[in-house]
Amino acid sequence: MERTLVLVKPDGVQRGLIGEVVSRLERRGLKLAAMKFMQMDRAKAEEHYGEHVDRPFFGGLVGFITSGPLVAMVWEADGAVEIVRNTMGTTNPKDSPLGTIRGDLAVNIGRNLVHGSDSPESAQREIALFFQPGEILDYARSNDSWIIEP
Ligand code: RTP
Ligand code: MG
Repeated sequence: MERTLVLVKPDGVQRGLIGEVVSRLERRGLKLAAMKFMQMDRAKAEEHYGEHVDRPFFGGLVGFITSGPLVAMVWEADGAVEIVRNTMGTTNPKDSPLGTIRGDLAVNIGRNLVHGSDSPESAQREIALFFQPGEILDYARSNDSWIIEP
């Protein structure tokens, strides 16, 4: 089953939106495999957002993502990367459709509440940055046959 990394960023924690984000992913039908409440240090943040190192917003992005606690999670589904990305909405909340997390709950590109891996390859790399293999749980979900056609 495909896995993806989701972060409730520090703005989501401060605004009391952890439950809202988790609830939307649960209601969509994704399956939670790991969850951690933590604060990223500079080195981890620079590695996590390494693809953006040369962009003008990199310093602000690293400063923001390390500024307070966040929730890191692994969610599973067939196509989990794409499903999470379309549940989150577009990078800039201003353009994000209503019904998405960013479209409903955010207004600013630098405070867009959530992160979701952008490809299965990024997901593997990012999950390994946040979780040891033993922290990712494989378990049966009793209502699976009502969410996924067997
Ligand atoms: P994320 O990685 O956080 O899930 O966001 P994303 O894939 O939708 O967007 P990405 O291009 O990876 O950018 C990472 C974060 O950098 C900030 N950003 N600011 N000012 C700008 O032009 C700009 N572009 C990106 C956003 O906070 C974005 O989430
Ligand atoms: Mg990204």
